[in-house]
Amino acid sequence: MAKLAIVGGKPVRRKPFPAWPAYSNQEARALLRVLRSRNWGGYPFPNAHASTFAARFAKAHGAKYGIALANGTVAIEVALKAIGIKPGDEVIVPAYTWEGTVGPVLLLNAVPVFVDVDPHTYCLDARRIEKAITPKTRAILPVHLAMNFADLDEILRVARARNIAVIEDCAHAHGGQWRGKGAGASGDLGCFSFQSSKIITAGEGGAVITSNLEFYECAQSYVNCGRASVSDEFRHRLIGFNYRITEFQAAILEVQLERMPKQAKTRQANMEHFEKRIRGTPGLAFLKRDKRVTRLAAYQYVFKYVPENFGGIPRAAFLGALEMEGIPCDGLFYEPVYRSALFPVDPTDFPALSWGRPEPLNLKSLYHSPVSERAAYEEAVWLPHHLFLGSRKDADDIANAVLKVCENINELRDLKHPAIARKAMSRAERPRIEKRQW
Ligand SMILES: Cc1ncc(COP(=O)(O)O)c(C=O)c1O
Repeated sequence: MAKLAIVGGKPVRRKPFPAWPAYSNQEARALLRVLRSRNWGGYPFPNAHASTFAARFAKAHGAKYGIALANGTVAIEVALKAIGIKPGDEVIVPAYTWEGTVGPVLLLNAVPVFVDVDPHTYCLDARRIEKAITPKTRAILPVHLAMNFADLDEILRVARARNIAVIEDCAHAHGGQWRGKGAGASGDLGCFSFQSSKIITAGEGGAVITSNLEFYECAQSYVNCGRASVSDEFRHRLIGFNYRITEFQAAILEVQLERMPKQAKTRQANMEHFEKRIRGTPGLAFLKRDKRVTRLAAYQYVFKYVPENFGGIPRAAFLGALEMEGIPCDGLFYEPVYRSALFPVDPTDFPALSWGRPEPLNLKSLYHSPVSERAAYEEAVWLPHHLFLGSRKDADDIANAVLKVCENINELRDLKHPAIARKAMSRAERPRIEKRQW
């Protein structure tokens, strides 16, 4: 019997996977050009590379306008501001996402309303939205993750009937398409992150795209200290901040955007091969592939480990064993935001949580989202996209390791191992020395 690496056997793989971020001399040359130009910052806004990149990025996703800015969290804040979110407004958000989807809602003194995710996609469950709508609902903020899109048909139907804005969080969906339309272009605005782990990256960075000139102007002004936008047709004056991106970042992103389609093709082919190899494995389950997703965006490959089918052996043991076989992986990639240690909401900091109520809203105790909780604490397995940027042999190694751990799962029963303890830790608890940056 093959012995699992975690109990002293030979690991499936010792060779590292393709490193991420990927770069070439093109990035080096682009950086040097900016360096020599001495035109480094985001001002005058939008600066040369920032403007070119933003226009190309928006076009690649089928939107008229794009703004490159500091990061994805700020992108969401800017989008909320652009639709005119006001203190006390409510914004519907999925429970299962990064805290950065929700933080900006609170920052603007609006109120996040958590809705559970769909068990087949792990994205905002559109069937639950109507029940969460109140007269204060101003926006719905779906997040497209796990190689899926939230059901935009249903979300837009519900939103349009009530004049509610839709802001798509596309931090995992660069290059993806829903019914032939780019991520972020179906809703009123789309928000992207270019943080280190993302499909294209400049270390940090973000973008907002839209086809609505008024939203674009507001967003531009907010990102650029409240200054008039380039067109300034609507003449909205507002207090803005410096959320500009640097020319170094934008120049790198121009190169990365060009490389994105080729990488997406490789990634998709390897992921499909991997999935074919492990589909049908007793105990594993798979998310839905919706035909309306006409182009895949694969930030992470996500599948389900069903502990009940493995005699109750917890996911952390499966993941610890998989990691020891040489496969980087994660389980507690996201927590239901309301339960996360990275979301310690004190209502005195966010007055809208108390307005018109006998007691302030306690976001931690108010919500229970069973699908999100199960995904977060029991079943979701996340494999980073760069594992799939190499050869078919790499994808075979990942599949062989998954199959090996499943077949020898009993070796993990009651096992105590630091790799397992690490896999049980939430992101907030993880030591800062962890090698991977996400
Ligand atoms: C779903 C989601 N939304 C928002 C963000 C925020 O992006 P950033 O880290 O660039 O601020 C991220 C980034 O990790 C994300 O994954």
